[in-house]
Amino acid sequence: MADSYQTKLWGGRFKQEEDERMNRFNENFSVTHWLLQPDIEGSMAHVTMLVQVGLLTSQEGQLLHQGLAGILADVESGKLALCGDYEDIHTFVELNLVKRVGDVGKKLHTARSRNDQVNLDMKLYVRAQVKQVIDKIHNLQDTIRQKAQQNPCIMPGYTHLQRAQVITFQSHLMAYHGMLARDSVRLSNALGLMGENPLGCGALAGTTHAIDRQLTSRLLGFERPYQSFEDGVSDRDYCLEAMADFSILMMHLSRLAEELILWGSQEFGFVELDDRYTTGSSIMPQKKNSDAAELVRGKTGRVYGGLMGLLTTMKGLPLAYNKDMQEDKEPFYDSAQTVLDCLFMMERMIATLKVKGERMKQAVKQGFLNATEVADYLVAKGMPFRDAHAVVGKMVLWCEEQGKSIEEMTQEQMSQFSPLLQGDLYSYIDYENILHKGIKKEMLEI
Ligand code: ARG
Repeated sequence: MADSYQTKLWGGRFKQEEDERMNRFNENFSVTHWLLQPDIEGSMAHVTMLVQVGLLTSQEGQLLHQGLAGILADVESGKLALCGDYEDIHTFVELNLVKRVGDVGKKLHTARSRNDQVNLDMKLYVRAQVKQVIDKIHNLQDTIRQKAQQNPCIMPGYTHLQRAQVITFQSHLMAYHGMLARDSVRLSNALGLMGENPLGCGALAGTTHAIDRQLTSRLLGFERPYQSFEDGVSDRDYCLEAMADFSILMMHLSRLAEELILWGSQEFGFVELDDRYTTGSSIMPQKKNSDAAELVRGKTGRVYGGLMGLLTTMKGLPLAYNKDMQEDKEPFYDSAQTVLDCLFMMERMIATLKVKGERMKQAVKQGFLNATEVADYLVAKGMPFRDAHAVVGKMVLWCEEQGKSIEEMTQEQMSQFSPLLQGDLYSYIDYENILHKGIKKEMLEI
């Protein structure tokens, strides 16, 4: 095992090689290539600090910096392939560094453990992904607002999926704008709780060297080091919090996706998705299916699954680091990519959505969507609301039997239900007028 350093960062105390299946079971290099950039960024800050406190000479520091930068550049240009029998990304970087700069590379890991290192890498990655998600949320919000402004048409609003009251397409879309605003604040708050720097916590107990954790915190954009070393290596709250916020965000996207699917059906016919975000059927030539929206709805499940998986992984772990924690990588990565993809697709679907205002207007006329306003009218004339509710209920029943809408009743027919129902009712319950009364006006302001 003398030359185990060729492939591993450990080995001295072992008599036997790892079982080949164990090797594959244990490695996560093949699924964490995306940790390269944060790993190098973290190592560079570590080197700067080691020089500063005198654990490395400035010449050594320079060599290590150059080597680390070279690895990143070569991977990015394709000169160095991210493959091989490495246990994890840290092993890949350190062994390649030694190959490049010689024995000085072996000093990189001074006063550091992979336990603090990997938590640092993850935190840097999670922070960057969360920022990207926030940006994409803002894009989607802008597109929603634009679409809403371009389409001020009236439409039926629903409760229990039954036609309820008249609303506008813009006010309906802006509901999602509001949900997304909270998602963005939630994620910004989560970023605010990611201020503690794991680097320097060592394996679990810090180090006997007088390192400077304040310096690496500053260099890496953290507010302060973790107070507890053991917390610093075993905290995965930030992953969980981001994934919890992603889950709520996906729930919102999924609800919007569901409405797009529903509205696009022939039964509703309120919108039509652009060809670019739909697909056809291999057997039914006429079909145009809302696949992008269905996938957004469907992928919500895997984001929830990632959160539940990691919560479960973490729940029984004693302090401090345990290998179980390696299982944070794939679910977080998958969740973040899924959320970014879904935000992108949703933005495109909304931007290219055809809104069928005429069809929505027609739908408003069926289903007594102005019944509540008839009751409001009676209240305005002095009738207690509960009595007004009962009067209008009877009118609706009568209209249903006659196959009429309320506005189609003659004044005489109305007066049978209450003498307070006069000719000015017609304009009061006109669907367009309704939206200009009382606080309903707010539905038109965006
Ligand atoms: N690959 C590991 C992970 O992702 C890195 C830390 C390993 N630490 C250790 N002591 N084996 O969690």
